[in-house]
Amino acid sequence: MTVRLEREQRTMLWTLTMHAHDAASAHPILGDRYAADLLARVDDPPDLGLSLGGNTPLICARAKLIDDAARTWLAQHDEAVVLHLGCGLDSRVLRLDPGPGVRWFDVDQEPVIDLRRRLYASAPSTTVAGDVTDPSFFEQFPDDGPRLVIAEGLLMYLDPTGVRAVIDGALTPGSTLVADTVAPWVTWVAGLQPAMRAADTSFRSSTADLARVAPRLVDEQSLVDATATRTDGLTSTTVRLFALVPHARYAMVLQRYETP
Ligand SMILES: C[S@@+](CC[C@H](N)C(=O)[O-])C[C@H]1O[C@@H](n2cnc3c(N)ncnc32)[C@H](O)[C@@H]1O
Repeated sequence: MTVRLEREQRTMLWTLTMHAHDAASAHPILGDRYAADLLARVDDPPDLGLSLGGNTPLICARAKLIDDAARTWLAQHDEAVVLHLGCGLDSRVLRLDPGPGVRWFDVDQEPVIDLRRRLYASAPSTTVAGDVTDPSFFEQFPDDGPRLVIAEGLLMYLDPTGVRAVIDGALTPGSTLVADTVAPWVTWVAGLQPAMRAADTSFRSSTADLARVAPRLVDEQSLVDATATRTDGLTSTTVRLFALVPHARYAMVLQRYETP
């Protein structure tokens, strides 16, 4: 199935490919059993190469931690709204299988949602196409219950004004935000990554930009640590050594924020 994807829209095929590779490995971190089938139906799936493919454990550890955080939150909220922002083709709603009282919205830009609708014959979620940085975008979602907002691999592609728009628009009172962000130095290093340059995209904001506009931080986990503990052998040793380099441990973090 083909669709014209531009810039950061193409990156969701990278994460999908990583999920598929992880699931086919001897010791999966995430074990996304839907990814390979979805990928097989995408025309022109990406070749990650060594440099991008090396991020597979990190990206799958991130997804695993977000699945766990969402599962815990859903166990405490039978009636709720979930906004899965920048969902790409991710099968989280199938992996978590939320109960009937949960209204789940999978949100991304138009071409991605177009592809998603064609690839997912039926899924227990509502797909919504749009730009999360549009100040009026979030007016269409129900605000009559507890809300979980998930932003995985999204905020770094937005500039600081876009991050503020997501915080101001998506978070109603009593909301929880689960999002990953990157250290300021990573925004610079990411610009050197050949695949990012070929896709004509870049990281435009960091953890510092989110901290400036977000509500109360209730939890933070190093995704470098999460990768080290979920891998073994040379990969785990390399990640553990990397974590000893100053500022490396918090290169990418998973944060949970709550609004009063
Ligand atoms: C790295 S992918 C992550 C996809 C998915 N969360 C995952 O982990 O597999 C980034 C996603 O963010 C989406 N995105 C970027 N900017 C966006 C915006 N302004 N509005 C909506 N979605 C956006 C892209 O289209 C892309 O699907």
